[in-house]
Amino acid sequence: MAQHTVVGSRMSYLSLTLILAFSQLVFSDDKLPIAAHTMFPKGFMFGAATAAYQVEGGWNADGKGMSVWDNYTHEHPDFVALNENADVSDDSYHLYKEDVQLLKTIGFQVYRFSISWPRVLPNGRTSYVNQAGIDYYMNLIDDLLANGIEPMVTLFHWDLPQALEDIGGWLNPDIAQLFEEYADLMFKTYGDKVKWWITINEPFSVVWFYGGNSAGAPNLNLHGTGDYLSGHNLLRAHGKAYRLYQKKYSHQGGKLSMAFCGPMCQPKTDSKDDIAAAERCYQFSYGWFAHPVFRGDYPPVMRELVDKNSKEEGRTVSRLPYFTEEEIKEINGTVDFFGMNYYTTNLINDGVIGDFPSVTRDAHYLTSFDPSWPSSEADWLKIVPQGIRLLAKKVKEEYNNPTLIVTENGYPQASMDDYERISYFESHFSELRRAIYEDKCNIIGHTTWSIIDNFEWRKGYTNKFGVVSVDFNDPKRTRTLRRSAEWLQHYLAMHKLIQ
Ligand SMILES: *[C@@H]1O[C@H](CO)[C@@H](O)[C@H](O)[C@H]1NC(C)=O
Ligand SMILES: *[C@@H]1O[C@H](CO)[C@@H](O)[C@H](O)[C@H]1NC(C)=O
Repeated sequence: MAQHTVVGSRMSYLSLTLILAFSQLVFSDDKLPIAAHTMFPKGFMFGAATAAYQVEGGWNADGKGMSVWDNYTHEHPDFVALNENADVSDDSYHLYKEDVQLLKTIGFQVYRFSISWPRVLPNGRTSYVNQAGIDYYMNLIDDLLANGIEPMVTLFHWDLPQALEDIGGWLNPDIAQLFEEYADLMFKTYGDKVKWWITINEPFSVVWFYGGNSAGAPNLNLHGTGDYLSGHNLLRAHGKAYRLYQKKYSHQGGKLSMAFCGPMCQPKTDSKDDIAAAERCYQFSYGWFAHPVFRGDYPPVMRELVDKNSKEEGRTVSRLPYFTEEEIKEINGTVDFFGMNYYTTNLINDGVIGDFPSVTRDAHYLTSFDPSWPSSEADWLKIVPQGIRLLAKKVKEEYNNPTLIVTENGYPQASMDDYERISYFESHFSELRRAIYEDKCNIIGHTTWSIIDNFEWRKGYTNKFGVVSVDFNDPKRTRTLRRSAEWLQHYLAMHKLIQ
């Protein structure tokens, strides 16, 4: 380790000198495009992200209720790589202060974490509040603020209380009101300290847990129906939480969004059919949730295709539910910024695949990777830096250039000498700056996935996304900075020089 540190700091000294030289140019003439491209604009926020189930452990500590992920991993150990679960994971429930010190050491200004709904409301309902859970997040938030780090809080990052799944979970329309009541308690309790809220993380992933093939909890496999219905209620829940905040908590001055996701959809060829297929891919992923909250109702192409297929299947009711006029109004215009998760890009061509009925079949496209894109330790993640710029540009065009925060972006590499992760961040930061300076996208922040290695859902602990490694065999869950953490430390120190 000692030797690493010496080499590390010599490398960093070189990049430090170079960046300093460029930032001099920024100071002397901010119209110089080349100089500007070496640094992010003043005020740009850098942070790191985690999610409750992935890092906390303490799955039944101090009165926490069971979540659908506790249930899924306990019922079906075989669904997860090496039969792992997150009963202990990083033990951040007990070691959160170590996480805060890591964030501070690296120089992050923002910590995006999620609240475990069943930790604060063991039965999912506000009729019984678990004070130990409330205290845990209060302590975390206070420790962050005491260390100069701003909290960005996700309310739902997939760990639904099992008690609510037992009444249908996101398939039950009542969930929207139950989510609103949970959100109300969170805004009331933490809202004077928390100014950034993400209601729902990756709604487009959640729908696969209802309509995909054992993709995750609650594992219902309701192809082509459970996905659309859960998505519908996720949107209704988000709309209610946003309107509640507007009505009751606007004096807190917070900003709300969802964290949208998908791959970036790039046409495989420049044929008209493939370009249209890539557009369907966008509208059936990011657009599925972003269109209703930015423009009102589902993307027209989704409405058209699911209605058409439903009819052909002899159904009198579309598998994609309809919002009432009132709901459209309630949901339309309920985001203050675009929370954008980006990891990779897919090539898209026209064609049909998938069970019948299913989202894949409705959306009518095929996915592949360009063989020239470098691989990673995750089979689904190829390195395509230009994708983050193209996606930001697409968002700008679709929704009238909203404020955008990259709420997740990261790379899996287990090695302590994780040069590929450094290169991933370097290239993606560079493309983000081009999106800002050349495409005039209104991007104001980036939260790295992730600060520490954690439970990567069905991949268990086999994909390591942390810039800090965690020894999962050590009861103390010792955390050790990887090279990428040192690189970020110097990068962020440099960024602070222009603040
Ligand atoms: C999962 O949830 C169901 C329904 O609540 C329950 O009957 C079952 O015991 C749970 N499984 C585990 C392993 O906790
Ligand atoms: C959503 O709101 C915008 C802005 O007020 C409006 O132009 C648009 O027509 C609304 N969409 C729908 C479907 O009502």
